[in-house]
Amino acid sequence: MAEKFPIRLGVNVDHVATIRNARGGFHPDPLRAARAAIAAGAHGITMHLREDRRHIVDSDVERMKEVPAPLNLEMAATEEMIGIARRVKPHAVCLVPEKRAERTTEGGLDVVAGGAALRDAVKLLSAHSRVSLFVAPDAAQIEASKKAGAAVVELHTGTWCEATAHGNQQQARGEFQKLSEAARLAHSLGLEVHAGHGLDFGTAELISALPEIAELNIGHYMVGEAVFAGLDAVVKNMLAAMARGRALIGSGA
Ligand code: PXP
Repeated sequence: MAEKFPIRLGVNVDHVATIRNARGGFHPDPLRAARAAIAAGAHGITMHLREDRRHIVDSDVERMKEVPAPLNLEMAATEEMIGIARRVKPHAVCLVPEKRAERTTEGGLDVVAGGAALRDAVKLLSAHSRVSLFVAPDAAQIEASKKAGAAVVELHTGTWCEATAHGNQQQARGEFQKLSEAARLAHSLGLEVHAGHGLDFGTAELISALPEIAELNIGHYMVGEAVFAGLDAVVKNMLAAMARGRALIGSGA
């Protein structure tokens, strides 16, 4: 079953850079984390180059060429970021909304309101990268993503993960249902489906049971857990959790 429904893990190394930047200097190096994650079995690396460079900086993105793994560059669809992506040509670009004052990416991209400017950005970036749009699990946003020319949608799992973490079971069930329906709709439109934000071992296992989901991008929890268990063990445990979720497909569980 696992081979029939393969699923990839992209490790987001932003918060290795957060720790580095707390003291300036070079340690810990997000590239060392990227190499360790790939050696442990992760399929790719994600970096979010934010406008304020609060964690990942331009040289981290440039240096990722040294790591033989697909890079998924998360960024806002601004002129500056599009210029950087056109120069670096990462394997994938995930367009996200970005507000300067937010602690992390708070909501999905409003693709419905994005109009021609977003369509143009997707077209430009698609010349060298697989373009993904980070959206809420909402039918209108998914249909607009298809119309905008994206190859991929990444479903925002943050609301579901938060409800789960706070023990709000009814809300969590409702949010999971939305993710499940959104994944089915996106897949039926020919979009590749990714998911991410706020995932931990438990939620990654549960969402891996949705057969349409081809990739998870996970950062904060894994970097936090690596303090206790080391990144190698955390990547392997995350892959095992995803495999357990995958094994549920078709099992009737
Ligand atoms: N996917 C996207 C599009 C994101 O913006 C983020 C956060 O940078 C993640 C995945 C990873 O979220 P987390 O760090 O909560 O695992």
